[in-house]
Amino acid sequence: MPAPVHSSLLAPSILAGQHIRLAESAAQVAAAGAPWLHLDIMDGHFVPNLTFGPQMVAELRREQPGLFFDVHLMLDNPQDFVEPFAKAGANLISFHLEPAIDHRALLARVRELGCQTGLVLNPGSPAELAEPFLAEIDLLLVMTVQPGFGGQSFRRDMLPKLVQLDTWRRQRELRFRLEVDGGVDAKTGPECRAAGADTFVAGTAFFKAPDRAAFVREAAAW
Ligand code: DX5
Ligand code: ZN
Repeated sequence: MPAPVHSSLLAPSILAGQHIRLAESAAQVAAAGAPWLHLDIMDGHFVPNLTFGPQMVAELRREQPGLFFDVHLMLDNPQDFVEPFAKAGANLISFHLEPAIDHRALLARVRELGCQTGLVLNPGSPAELAEPFLAEIDLLLVMTVQPGFGGQSFRRDMLPKLVQLDTWRRQRELRFRLEVDGGVDAKTGPECRAAGADTFVAGTAFFKAPDRAAFVREAAAW
C-alpha cells in the first residue's frame, strides 16, 4: 500500500453527547485529547432530524477555544447558514453535494469567510459527483450511513468509493482530507483507513468508549 497522504485523526461527534449538557460533552472530547470536534447541523428537511444552530456553536466555541470545529451542514439551504456558522467559530464548514445549489460559489464564500471547505457525499451519491471539485476543497466527507441519526450500522459498500477518491487524490497530487462519518469504530475505522480515509468521525464509539483518551490514541494509529 502506498504511504498515506495524511496521518489518522479522530473527530468525535457531539451528536452522541448529552444535549442538555453539550458543554460538558465538548469538554470530554478535549480532555480525551481529540484535536477535532465534529458538529452535526440538521434541518429536519434534508435529513429527518433536528439538532442545534449557530448560537450553540458560538457558545461551545467560547468554552473550547482550542478545538478544531468541523461543522457538517445537513441542510437544503447551506448558503443561508455558512456566514452564521463561520461567525460562530467554525474552522471547517462542509455541505452536501445533493442539494441543487451553486457549490463552487459556496466553496468560495466559505473560504472568503476564513474557513476551510468540505463537501459531503450521501451513501447513494457516486464519487463522480465530487470529482470536479477535488482541487478546490480541504476535505471530502463520505457518509457511511444515511445521515440523520447516530448509532447506525456502518455501510461497508462505501469502501470502494473511498478507494476511488483516494486514487484520484494521489493521481492529481491533491491534499484534501478524506473523512468518513457513520458507524465508525475500532473495527470499521481501520477498514476505512485501508481504503484511503484519514479523518474519522465517531459519535457512539467515542462516547461509549470505556477509556476515551485511549480510544483517541488508538484511532491515531489506524
Ligand atoms: C449522522 C451524523 C454523524 C453521527 C455519527 O447523520 O452525520 O456525524 O454523529 O454517529 P455514529 O458515530 O454514532 O454513527
Ligand atoms: Zn456528521
